[in-house]
Amino acid sequence: MAEQIEREQWGSKIGLILAVAGNAVGLGNFLRFPVQAAQNGGGAFMIPYFIFFLLLGIPLMWIEWGIGRNGGKYNHGSAPGMFNVLWKNNLAKYFGTLGLFISLVIMIYYTYIESWTLGYSFFSITKMYFNEQNFSAMRTFLYSYQGRAIGGHFTNIWPSYIFMLITFGINFWILYKGITKGIERLAKIGMPLLFLFGIILTIRVLTLGTPNPAIPQNSIENGLAFIWNPDFSSLGNPKVWLAAAGQIFFTLSVGMGTIQAYASYIKANDDIALSGLSTSATNEFVEVIMGGSIAIPAAVAFFGIAMTTQIANAGAFDLGFVSMPLIFHQIPYGPFFGFIWFLLLFFAGITSSVAMGQPLISFLEEEFKMTRKKATTILAIVVIISVQFVIFFLRYGFLDEMDYWAGTFGLVLFALIETILFMWVFGADKAWDEMNRGGEIKIPRIFLFVMKFVTPVILATILLWWLVKDAIPIFMLKGVPAENVPYIWGARILMLVLLGSLIWLVKAAWKRRLGN
Ligand code: PHE
Repeated sequence: MAEQIEREQWGSKIGLILAVAGNAVGLGNFLRFPVQAAQNGGGAFMIPYFIFFLLLGIPLMWIEWGIGRNGGKYNHGSAPGMFNVLWKNNLAKYFGTLGLFISLVIMIYYTYIESWTLGYSFFSITKMYFNEQNFSAMRTFLYSYQGRAIGGHFTNIWPSYIFMLITFGINFWILYKGITKGIERLAKIGMPLLFLFGIILTIRVLTLGTPNPAIPQNSIENGLAFIWNPDFSSLGNPKVWLAAAGQIFFTLSVGMGTIQAYASYIKANDDIALSGLSTSATNEFVEVIMGGSIAIPAAVAFFGIAMTTQIANAGAFDLGFVSMPLIFHQIPYGPFFGFIWFLLLFFAGITSSVAMGQPLISFLEEEFKMTRKKATTILAIVVIISVQFVIFFLRYGFLDEMDYWAGTFGLVLFALIETILFMWVFGADKAWDEMNRGGEIKIPRIFLFVMKFVTPVILATILLWWLVKDAIPIFMLKGVPAENVPYIWGARILMLVLLGSLIWLVKAAWKRRLGN
């Protein structure tokens, strides 16, 4: 069907696994997960979390590897083309547009957050925040860095802006280098370092003991108990279940189009079954063991349970950028541990953010026959323009609005569409063969049933629930301070412009193809 073009392939199996694991392991593992667990009943959160890992996470992972490898056979590394292969209908490609949209929107704000981690690793080693003695001072330091507040250490947004430019520059440079020389090489360096830093920090935190002997209840044991002791009463609360499902999506990077893009660069008969499983397992190890052991238990050991609850309720940034720096003040070699904490976050972030760029690069390269240089340049221009709003309107909730529609709601919608297309339109038997072909293990047959019935039903239920309980109030701006309203609309307009442009591009690409 398509003209024969030379598609890149991953250079090695280990490179592929590290790249997909790098895609999944991100800021979500170290910042989002502990906060979600602490806010939703601690240990009890883990029950719905693992249920959804089995019923949504793993099945979607295999589905996405399957859709991706299949699309790659037809020279498609992005969802519009992949969906068109599954369903020969004019509409298929438009559904696929969502896969470009979600990864693009997340890339815009995620990479900006990632740039803070680079900034903070520099501030750690240079001891820049070591004068800020308490929570409010440390928070002011952060807010002044983010340009959210006047006063504080930073008098203007430039430091933040420069780290943003450096971070985007590295991201686009890696994307420009391509699959093997860029993304794979990054994963081969970044992932082992991430593991090393993660292990060092986990051991450091687990050996904290009781930092202040005068307050024996502030101990690492109680910190671990806080996050792991089950509070079963929270299981009856649908909010906890939704939070668990949302975390599974975000952390595994499913429902966005990025796993499919990576999988499109493997050979038609290369294993999916074991690779999909091992990358998911790697992500869960990093999330549950390292992500669960570092930030929250350390906060309990230093600040006690009551304060840690407040921190967790204030969100992921307070945990990573306020609470942790205060801890680094108080331990020997603090600047060093601060440096590796933020560098760990940076490597976790960048191996994810390049993944968000890849579907768009593949789309421009393959559907418009652009050179990689041109494709990367166009993506860079769009992203750099869009991120300006995120930077300057951060305090008005611009970022959160994008995160809600793309990073929470959009994923579930996209996952439902792809599951129906693959398991029902393309056909469960064909899909099953596709996922198992070349497999180094056999996917247990029960998953055929799960993928065909259970996964889509859960997805539809979550979507409906969200629509009614969450999306409508959010859409109607319930509880939004009046001064934020214009900015929230701004965020929506930006997203609509991006979505509209992508739909238009998809249309143009297909027209161009028919014209050939
Ligand atoms: N899974 C990544 C994390 O845990 C986030 C991510 C989102 C990656 C979207 C790719 C695409 O942080």
